[in-house]
Amino acid sequence: ARTPMIAPSLLSADFARLADEVARVADADWLHVDVMDAHFVPNLTLGRPVVEAIHAVSPVPLDCHLMIEAPERWAPGYAELGSRNVTVHAEACTGDPRDVARDIRAAGALAGLALKPGTPLERYEEVLRDFDTLLVMTVEPGFGGQAFMAEVLPKVRRARELVDTGHLQVLVEVDGGINADTIAQAAEAGADVFVAGSAVYGADDPSRAIAALRDLATP
Ligand code: DX5
Ligand code: ZN
Repeated sequence: ARTPMIAPSLLSADFARLADEVARVADADWLHVDVMDAHFVPNLTLGRPVVEAIHAVSPVPLDCHLMIEAPERWAPGYAELGSRNVTVHAEACTGDPRDVARDIRAAGALAGLALKPGTPLERYEEVLRDFDTLLVMTVEPGFGGQAFMAEVLPKVRRARELVDTGHLQVLVEVDGGINADTIAQAAEAGADVFVAGSAVYGADDPSRAIAALRDLATP
């Protein structure tokens, strides 16, 4: 059986106390960092200098989710600073997404491909094998605290099937609205990595919230 990985999203943390907020999720598998540029999504968060500062104090490997235009230009920099995984949006790639994956890997990180809820997986089935992670968005990207879109579950299921039947080394990641009420559905559909922002940082005890989510995602 697959071991579920929990990746708290820093987007729901207190940005004025980043080092403390990072320390509160030390028992997570990855720390999910949402980079937004106010162009690809209608919100602006943080960029490379702040991610470098987070990396310097994080006991947990960074999972950078780039919701930005021209990802080919910026993604390798997030790999160079020491992130474990760097994910770019398929919709933002102007050229072949495989070129971006190659550059991210050359800079030392795993490479991820993200799909918005309305983006069909079929269009990217051929390039999947050139990535290490596939991030299936279960909300429209841009903000934390939105409701889980169960209608995206068939895409998670299809991703699982492609990975298993093709023997691909690709982790299926879900992001958006993951909490104690929804995580089991996403796990059942075949996700490996579960991003949770408000469900972890909104809890009194983030450590306990992480443990509870991990239990609920374990088959
Ligand atoms: C949304 C971000 C998510 C967000 C998830 O665009 O990509 O990572 O932080 O937050 P929750 O878990 O609250 O939906
Ligand atoms: Zn995210």
